Amino acid sequence: MRIEHFLKPEDLEEALRADVAAGLTAEPKTLPPKWFYDDRGSELFTEITRLEEYYPTRRERAILAARAPEIAGLTGARTLVELGAGSGEKTRLLLDALGAAGLETYVPVDVSGDYLLDAAEKIAAEYPGLEVHPVAADYERHLSLIRGGPRKLVAFLGGTIGNMTPEERHTFLSAIRGTLGADDALLIGADLVKDEKRLVRAYDDESGVTAEFNRNVLRVINGHLDADFVPEAFDHVALWNPENEWIEMRLRSRTRQEVRIGALDLSVHFADGEEMRTEISAKFRPERLESELEAAGYALTDLWTDPEGDFSLTLARPRGDHDPGKTSAGPLTVD
Ligand code: AVJ
Repeated sequence: MRIEHFLKPEDLEEALRADVAAGLTAEPKTLPPKWFYDDRGSELFTEITRLEEYYPTRRERAILAARAPEIAGLTGARTLVELGAGSGEKTRLLLDALGAAGLETYVPVDVSGDYLLDAAEKIAAEYPGLEVHPVAADYERHLSLIRGGPRKLVAFLGGTIGNMTPEERHTFLSAIRGTLGADDALLIGADLVKDEKRLVRAYDDESGVTAEFNRNVLRVINGHLDADFVPEAFDHVALWNPENEWIEMRLRSRTRQEVRIGALDLSVHFADGEEMRTEISAKFRPERLESELEAAGYALTDLWTDPEGDFSLTLARPRGDHDPGKTSAGPLTVD
């Protein structure tokens, strides 16, 4: 199997440098969540999905198990494009149902080439009739390059849309909209607003796995940018931001300290107790999903939740009357 590469390792390295340089010189300091996921970070995330406290993965799987045949019937998809394709367990629920309804091609898209190829080869072996076409790309930058064919379903699962700010979501949803034809559809998994205690618990588990996951971004920076972060010198913080209705993860400096980022020739000072934001994970209300989709040129056609009402799966269609010049940033291209 051949991977189509829009992202070379040097490109990733360059993006990390730029993000770290910008984030660590900002006030307050921030780091984007996409850098959690090296091999260790991906393993820690998989561990998170098995924690009792972390409900989203289980809930989304339950919705897919119940609704995949319906999704197949509604979309009649011939190509499934999965943005941020993970380990693929939830994907198989979709592939089983879509496969029975005429799916021909599966296009998993992810930044991590090795992991992606592995997962794609397993799926190809399990689904002999299916053409599997993995693409290594940054789905925030290379959307318009990802080929589809007619009747495609673009899936963005797991609640990862919550890692974006409302402005970023608008840009992203509009960019996807620009790649869709009239017969195509978008499937989004999004976590829902709920009791604050349960939300915070899901991001601050008893066994400390999420804390390790949070600190892992410091290890990634150490390894790639010749930095000397001491991960244990930062405490994990998870809090609910009620104005923005998102969970924030932060790293709080346990002391006054200097950190050296060799590859950037940069020294960064942390005050005692200083907090650096490492992730937002927005939680949605159905009305908000509907209005954001509407603003980006879609009509929300179906919204399903699990029986507990914890998580949502939304199917949206491009709106024919949408004028991309007005509200969309248009398709993204390589920069
Ligand atoms: C993979 C982005 C959906 O926001 O819930 C899990 C990542 N962060 N625990 C999320 C995450 C802390 C997760 N997503």
